[in-house]
Amino acid sequence: MDAQALRDAYVNFFVERGHTHIGSASLIPENDPTVLFTTAGMHPLVPYILGEKHPGGRRLVDFQKCIRTGDIEEVGDASHLTFFEMLGNWSLGDYFKKESIEYSFGLLTDVLKIDINNLAVTAFEGEEGIPKDTETAEFWKSRGIRDDQIFFYGREHNWWGPAGQTGPCGPDTEIFFDDGRPKCGPDCGPACKCGKYTEIWNNVFMQYSKDTDGRFTPLRQKNVDTGMGLERVLCVVNGLKTVYDTSLFTGIIGKLEELSGKKYGDFTRPFRIIADHLRASTFLLGDGVVPAKTGQGYILRRLIRRASRYMSSLGMEGVNMHKISEVIVSEYSDAYPELGRNRDLIFAQITAEEERFRRTLAKGLKRFDEMVSESGGSGELGGEAVFRLYDTFGFPIELTQELAAERGYSVNTDDFDSRFREHQEKSRSGSDQTFKGGLADAGEQTTKLHTATHLLNAALKKFVDPGIQQKGSNITAERLRFDFNLDRKLTSEELKSIEDYINEIISQDIPVVCEETPYEEAKKRNAVGVFQDKYGEIVKMYSIGDVSVELCGGPHVKSTGEIGCFKIIKEESSAAGTRRIKATVG
Ligand code: ALA
Repeated sequence: MDAQALRDAYVNFFVERGHTHIGSASLIPENDPTVLFTTAGMHPLVPYILGEKHPGGRRLVDFQKCIRTGDIEEVGDASHLTFFEMLGNWSLGDYFKKESIEYSFGLLTDVLKIDINNLAVTAFEGEEGIPKDTETAEFWKSRGIRDDQIFFYGREHNWWGPAGQTGPCGPDTEIFFDDGRPKCGPDCGPACKCGKYTEIWNNVFMQYSKDTDGRFTPLRQKNVDTGMGLERVLCVVNGLKTVYDTSLFTGIIGKLEELSGKKYGDFTRPFRIIADHLRASTFLLGDGVVPAKTGQGYILRRLIRRASRYMSSLGMEGVNMHKISEVIVSEYSDAYPELGRNRDLIFAQITAEEERFRRTLAKGLKRFDEMVSESGGSGELGGEAVFRLYDTFGFPIELTQELAAERGYSVNTDDFDSRFREHQEKSRSGSDQTFKGGLADAGEQTTKLHTATHLLNAALKKFVDPGIQQKGSNITAERLRFDFNLDRKLTSEELKSIEDYINEIISQDIPVVCEETPYEEAKKRNAVGVFQDKYGEIVKMYSIGDVSVELCGGPHVKSTGEIGCFKIIKEESSAAGTRRIKATVG
């Protein structure tokens, strides 16, 4: 079974069971400043898990691109990936444990044909105030799973979320593939790292919300959030040893072999690092991230530069990275059309970053060698030196670590981390990541800011350029931040016209109308929004008189008067060809 067949089989199974297929959201979370990336399928759905009505209904299914960067340096082994796809199905206050387990069992055994004897499941063992989840175990037993295939664990293993600092979470039941070999010891079970068990699916019973004070309160509705790792399941159903053996990587690895003249089998680690990092980078560029010194752009820069280093180690200095990116774009464009749409931009950015890195690399290496001699054979490079390499020569931390290791040196990462954090806090785009709240905070102020963002989007089109499009939006309780395509600074006259116009619309107290309407109707009305099969048939559309019509999940004020007063506090560049406006209301 290949990746597309698995995506289709999963989606169809749940569509047949009343779920609406929704499109994959961006890797950059809209409106959740507490995390850098979409790390799970549920992330874009947080408002709906909290009770907001989803235009697709109460049963949803999708495949979602995700990025987790916690283990960048582990990439290169058999299983770690920075980019991966998550298959997921959701019940938003509809079905709960029983159906969720029935569906998972049905898909695994009937569709994917996994032998029931190769399954093992876990459930929450309970703690003060939250009972042991014997209910879940009973539902598994009713499907034919034996007692010895069921394991109970505590919060460390059987509790999931929240994805950011706050938001929905709950106990889960995890499903593992047991490869059938004997247990490595009496305590061997799904939590054991011996390799007998591979986690393939996680069904979370989302019924609590964690707030900023760390308190858990029951949610208004009981939800199910599931996540199945596409790459891992492909491995399991095809009897493969590593995710890199799946069809998702054959093309990329084949291209690398062709361009380097070397065999994957002889250089497994560098091949895997390049393949993983360029896959993640291609997707990030496809979602509008550009290499930068902080935030998401810094992660992208690290991925591209690390891949470039490993390409050099394979003697590929003369090879343009975009040749590999091309394979990724062509293989993934059917499932993720944004890659095809943005292909030129992706290739241009990846080439520019590669060149920037090549230009500073030689100088940085020279400085690195000087630092090593200056350290007087201490065996450690201090945080200040490492920070200078990052700040002046754009050396990602892993690069310095790897160079240091080659000379038998270690790097003081704690010191570097604290300098880096200080730097992030000083730089504006970094500090944006540190606001509390996020999507779970649908308070009064953020609601006003959501509506103000629609007005700003409309005003920019009216006063600056009708071709302006949203490139990113991020709302905290303090301010809105809106990124859009424009290759020049806004004039002070334009800023004033925008501000005055929005305040005029506010003073007219125009009602904000929410309609659920067929997709075709929204298109006819020229609604602003992402049209690429995002929501299926029915979409949720917010209109403000004849000022703005936008597809959006909300929340919004009832009428514009509630916003109070709109003020632009900053207009700046956010990346090449992208401007950023920050504004407050109230
Ligand atoms: N949100 C859950 C996970 O990521 C399903 O594992």
